[in-house]
Amino acid sequence: MTIGFGERVCRLFEIEAPIVLAGMAAVTDARLVAAVSNAGGLGLIGTVDRTPEQVVTEVSRIRALTNRPFGINVVIADATPEIWETVFALKPPVLSTSWGDVTSFVSRARDAGSRLLHGVTAVSQVEPAVLAGVDALVAQGADGGGHVGTVGTFALLPQVVDAAPGLPVLASGGIIDGRGLAAAVALGADGVVMGTRFLASLESPIRDSWMAAMVNAAAEDIIATTIPDIAWGVHWPSATSRVIRNQLIDDWLGREQELRQSSATVGARMSHGVASGSDSDVPLYAGQGAGGIHEILPASTIIGQMMADARATIQRLAPDGGARAGSPSSARPALVDRESRS
Ligand SMILES: Cc1cc2nc3c(=O)[nH]c(=O)nc-3n(C[C@H](O)[C@H](O)[C@H](O)COP(=O)(O)O)c2cc1C
Repeated sequence: MTIGFGERVCRLFEIEAPIVLAGMAAVTDARLVAAVSNAGGLGLIGTVDRTPEQVVTEVSRIRALTNRPFGINVVIADATPEIWETVFALKPPVLSTSWGDVTSFVSRARDAGSRLLHGVTAVSQVEPAVLAGVDALVAQGADGGGHVGTVGTFALLPQVVDAAPGLPVLASGGIIDGRGLAAAVALGADGVVMGTRFLASLESPIRDSWMAAMVNAAAEDIIATTIPDIAWGVHWPSATSRVIRNQLIDDWLGREQELRQSSATVGARMSHGVASGSDSDVPLYAGQGAGGIHEILPASTIIGQMMADARATIQRLAPDGGARAGSPSSARPALVDRESRS
């Protein structure tokens, strides 16, 4: 018997494996995006920290490296009108949006022929996105790397699935292997979006020492903090950043108020650290799953192993292909009668 999952999302994006490389600002590049797309997944290229010209260059490189679908990620709270114009003119097969109200961009995405994949970090963000007409959602859990909300991936995911009946939902945050993919599928996901696992891959452009920090990190040392945003003077709505603890973080943890007075100095320390390749003076963004990564592998191997392991896990847990498992929500007795509560 074939153990199938992710078909809806594969059909929607015209891909073979329901595994998406997260858009990650200017941290990733065309080579990694193309590697993921060529392996049957979907690579997203980021626009944060890139000029419109740099976005055009990366997308041209992607198109030279693959003829498979790819996407462009735009952080709504960050994007300038020039970035939006550039992205729509590039007509990406997939437009990925996050951190903001997507309503006013849906018709432009349609006109550009792009499928729209929108990330949410809270259940309250689901209804506006569904009403706006997005094609799929990402439940972006707080276990993940980079900017995060407050709700953990496996608490957020089923609630997003229930709040968006009929819409494909991908899980994101802390997922690094086939077990995580299978668990996400069990909670109603159609696929996963991964950042950290692909940052620790052969095609990843980040420096080796950042990758080594991920491989050596313990999950409990990967914390959510406001330190990088305070030091850089960034005002990110209702978010913290998840990073690996290092000297920079240890110096300021618990002293965030004081940091506001020294933000220019610490921001300069971080910028110098970025330029000099320091690992102690820069935020080392990573999700909590980094603690479980032990090898730097090609993106195609990561995707191939995840698919095989997820199938094996689902087969082990439901040898009949899950035929007897009913929908948990339809099987659930009504414990609380909402009408009688009001
Ligand atoms: C270095 C880094 C940069 C990120 N930049 C972005 C971004 O520009 N846009 C966005 O929507 N998400 C961004 N994210 C979050 C990812 O989209 C995704 O939610 C997260 O990586 C998933 O968790 P994981 O890293 O545990 O796989 C970033 C994450 C990392 C680690």
